[in-house]
Amino acid sequence: MNVLGIETSCDETSAAVVENGRRVFSNVVSSQLDLHRRFGGVVPEIASRAHLESIDNIVKAALEDAGKNIDEISGVAVTRGPGLIGALLVGISYAEGLSEARKIPLAGVNHLHAHLYANMMSNQKIKMPFVGLLVSGGHTILCIVEDVGKYNFLGTTVDDAAGEAFDKIAKLLELGYPGGPVIEKAAEKGDPNFVRFPRARVKKSPYFFSFSGLKTAVLYYVKKTKTLSRHIEDVAASFQEAVVDSLIEKSLAAADDCKIKRLVVGGGVSCNRRLREKLCSSGKKQGIEVFFPSLELCTDNAAMIAGIGFELLKKGKCGPFNPDPNLKL
Ligand code: KG4
Ligand code: ZN
Repeated sequence: MNVLGIETSCDETSAAVVENGRRVFSNVVSSQLDLHRRFGGVVPEIASRAHLESIDNIVKAALEDAGKNIDEISGVAVTRGPGLIGALLVGISYAEGLSEARKIPLAGVNHLHAHLYANMMSNQKIKMPFVGLLVSGGHTILCIVEDVGKYNFLGTTVDDAAGEAFDKIAKLLELGYPGGPVIEKAAEKGDPNFVRFPRARVKKSPYFFSFSGLKTAVLYYVKKTKTLSRHIEDVAASFQEAVVDSLIEKSLAAADDCKIKRLVVGGGVSCNRRLREKLCSSGKKQGIEVFFPSLELCTDNAAMIAGIGFELLKKGKCGPFNPDPNLKL
């Protein structure tokens, strides 16, 4: 079964064709970065308009890349939340129209579930249950995934999300936007042990995260030492190390405590090479298998939407739905 996936929850317009939830025939991602960069973040109105202008061409490009005709598509899957309401509406309206016109079923996908499902597409040998660590621009969540559609919440952040912390510190260090990739690049030339920034623990909640104290610590350090220009790479590397260490400590503890020896990571921050390397080697020492999606499936993309959409359609979970900007796990 070929599913057409559509993703418009934030600042990427994406469409993909995926067969049976696994085989990616195409995955076209059009980033709006250049439109938002000068504002230092995503402007919702600009995002919706840009989705509207490009969605039709992106879907056509996805079909063309896949070498498929619209007649060969037997289902549509679209992100129904969480995300920006106007942006979600563009993708959902387009998908509804297509489903109605072609008389093919439509599935509404939870974007958070899709980020973790991306792993199943990159790695066929992942078995459920596993502990899931979702790290994106808006979310930092630890959970147990029992099955596709069955998630047990373990913890989240009490303040900033991990990706958000990268974005805010990049702004502070005047490195640009989005923060993750630019901090990672600067950190490559820096010393991760240059400053020991705090790795916060949340009282009595071992699986909860907090990054606002770290953000303040970096801010004070930069103000106090006025070393920004000379040691920017060292500060970036030390900050990245603190985020990575917090994520590793809590997620491996969760896997250990729950006696589930598989940890699966997803979301934009899972691109981060320091996180990938350090978590895999720490996991190995503790006998926990660690999985990451391939790089192109880490950040927002429609292939992961089509992938998990196939699972929903297979279970008959289709039909009308409303966009939900605050959709939870
Ligand atoms: O999953 P995603 O593409 O969108 C959301 O659903 O939020 O994640 C975007 C987030 C941004 O905060 C970005 O700074 C972060 O992922 N990110 C990274 C890296 N690449 C993207 N964070 C750390 N290292 C990276 N290489
Ligand atoms: Zn995302």
